[in-house]
Amino acid sequence: MPSRPLFQDYPWVSSPAIISAPMSGFAGPALAHAVYKAGGIGFLGGLPDTKALYTALQDVTELVTGTRLPQPGADALPIGLGALLFAQKLDEVVALVKVFRPVAVWLFAAHEFADFKRWTEEIRKASNVTKIWIQIGSVTGAVKLAQSCKPDVLVLQGADAGGHGGEKGAGIISLIPETLYALQRLGLNDVSIVAAGGIADGSSVAAALTLGADGVVMGTRFLAAEETTVHPSYQAAILETEDGGQTTVRAKVFDELAGPNIWPRDFDGRALIAQSYRDHIKGISIEEIRKSHAEAKQTSHLGFDQENRRAAIWAGTGVGLVREKAHASDILTEVRQAAKVALERAMTIMG
Ligand SMILES: Cc1cc2nc3c(=O)[nH]c(=O)nc-3n(C[C@H](O)[C@H](O)[C@H](O)COP(=O)(O)O)c2cc1C
Repeated sequence: MPSRPLFQDYPWVSSPAIISAPMSGFAGPALAHAVYKAGGIGFLGGLPDTKALYTALQDVTELVTGTRLPQPGADALPIGLGALLFAQKLDEVVALVKVFRPVAVWLFAAHEFADFKRWTEEIRKASNVTKIWIQIGSVTGAVKLAQSCKPDVLVLQGADAGGHGGEKGAGIISLIPETLYALQRLGLNDVSIVAAGGIADGSSVAAALTLGADGVVMGTRFLAAEETTVHPSYQAAILETEDGGQTTVRAKVFDELAGPNIWPRDFDGRALIAQSYRDHIKGISIEEIRKSHAEAKQTSHLGFDQENRRAAIWAGTGVGLVREKAHASDILTEVRQAAKVALERAMTIMG
């Protein structure tokens, strides 16, 4: 089975490895540091604004300095950095990597597959302590990336995921085992596999591990963390929403609300069903939808409130499992404990 132990590269990590997704605009220094401190792997979200990213990296460096955990290497920053390939400039990210030497860079959403190779090579040249993580949502894509980039980690993103992902997709329940089979058949064994999409509690963590993942990513669950940068009305919507399979939807219209969609063509995003989406389905013009969205954005709730929900509230199908605001460290403790209980229960049933 393809598997490169995650722990050799991230020595402070407690088992099972829990990773906070690099949610652009949400995952800042406080969340990344809190997850790191609790024995997980914390990522900063990628931002097109390189100055803001520089400040975030400076802030998180300050936060981790003085937190005494086993270090990945003398001068490595034990925090990961997200990168949205279609929206960020490679030379600017490389410059940041040279200065801050993050333990990982997570690549996502390229216009062309060849871009992943270019980014991987340049980042590796810039820092010998930075591991390459690539998030992808298909078996074919994962194999292509394993062959062309030899990433250290493949993040397999299932269709349940909150935020952006491939328009076509499968849940992790088939995506992970089929990808593992395909990689194994080709002898592509030197890669860690991390699961993402719909994982929001201990039982789903346990399920991902039994599917063959070496670690798990949570995005939506961390939207309820005290340390996440999130508008209170957005967070309230996450805590209130149940039955994510019915109350969230994958659509491209969410990327049209503020102007033309700039995401790669085969991407859409999963968000809470909002009035903008309902209007789109009814055939209301995008101009009208944008106008109402812009008006809602002028209010103190920014269009996230139940009464006038027009803005995109990115969330995965696991949103119904996110019920309470909590510190990231408590989320990690609870999820790890519940994963153990779920696995023990399964073992009892196995006999
Ligand atoms: C609010 C939000 C923002 C996200 N932003 C990014 C991003 O900037 N870059 C990225 O690679 N993934 C992003 N994602 C997707 C995550 O990497 C991950 O695939 C997803 O959160 C996993 O599914 P879950 O939300 O059900 O846990 C985002 C997800 C959410 C919910």
